[in-house]
Amino acid sequence: ESTLGAAAAQSGRYFGVAIAANRLSDSTYATIAAREFNSVTAENEMKIDATEPQRGQFSFTAADRVYNWAVQNGKKVRGHTLAWHSQQPSWMQSLSGSTLRQAMIDHINGVMGHYKGKITQWDVVNEAFADGSSGARRDSNLQRTGNDWIEVAFRTARAADPSAKLCYNDYNVEDWTWAKTQAVYAMVRDFKQRGVPIDCVGFQSHFNSGSPYNSNFRTTLQNFAALGVDVAVTELDIQGAPASTYSNVVNDCLAVSRCLGVTVWGVRDSDSWRSDQTPLLFNNDGSKKSAYTAVLNAL
Ligand code: XIL
Repeated sequence: ESTLGAAAAQSGRYFGVAIAANRLSDSTYATIAAREFNSVTAENEMKIDATEPQRGQFSFTAADRVYNWAVQNGKKVRGHTLAWHSQQPSWMQSLSGSTLRQAMIDHINGVMGHYKGKITQWDVVNEAFADGSSGARRDSNLQRTGNDWIEVAFRTARAADPSAKLCYNDYNVEDWTWAKTQAVYAMVRDFKQRGVPIDCVGFQSHFNSGSPYNSNFRTTLQNFAALGVDVAVTELDIQGAPASTYSNVVNDCLAVSRCLGVTVWGVRDSDSWRSDQTPLLFNNDGSKKSAYTAVLNAL
């Protein structure tokens, strides 16, 4: 196959990309994105601050730009993200307790209602666990509403759009030996045992010298899948974009039948949130990097 999306489709998977609405007018960017990828995640446009800038007043202008571009170009869409401590609008940051809990529920209903039946996977909850060795939940305004906020978010999401796969998404959960990985694993196991609706786990996979790729990532994907959830690589970028690491990540996904696909977090290095790390598959001029070829060959 000659594109990433078509190559991934050979095994029933997708190869996706994070899209920024304000870059779609760049023809180099849009040409590569339309050609290579068959799944899209909005890089920022479906987040809480973008979709509910004032409480109860939803705005889908930028989100729909990404969504409509994706659908018009034959791509499916991952939803990102509904409940998160970051990129909250100021009105939500100032809430607490039952008021905040209700605002979270209303937000999930508002956004999932707008896209009902149109989103393949939603990152319902993003980054709820603490970094480091504690294995604890992250301190956040949402956590302070009560330890059950994550399961409430998932139950709300299931009712709002029963057709979407509901994912938990996080970073630094790729290495099986990390405490954060074990903590998320324990939560998913508990949710499956108690019937809390969860369908998938997203592994962001922002690999760099501080959080390096480890070959036990495949074990992590296999162990989560064995709990009865799908897995996905949701925000892949790798410092320096070593071709061998990119192909290792792809092979890890391909080795796990419940791995749905891989999404890279941007098109060209210059589009990356970490552009100084040159972590993506395309150079700034739109040419393919060696990592691109490694991924295409691995798929
Ligand atoms: C990042 C975007 O890429 C940036 O443009 C934005 O300024 C901050 O957020 N984990 C996530 C993503 O789940 O939403 C983040 O995206 C990167 C880390």
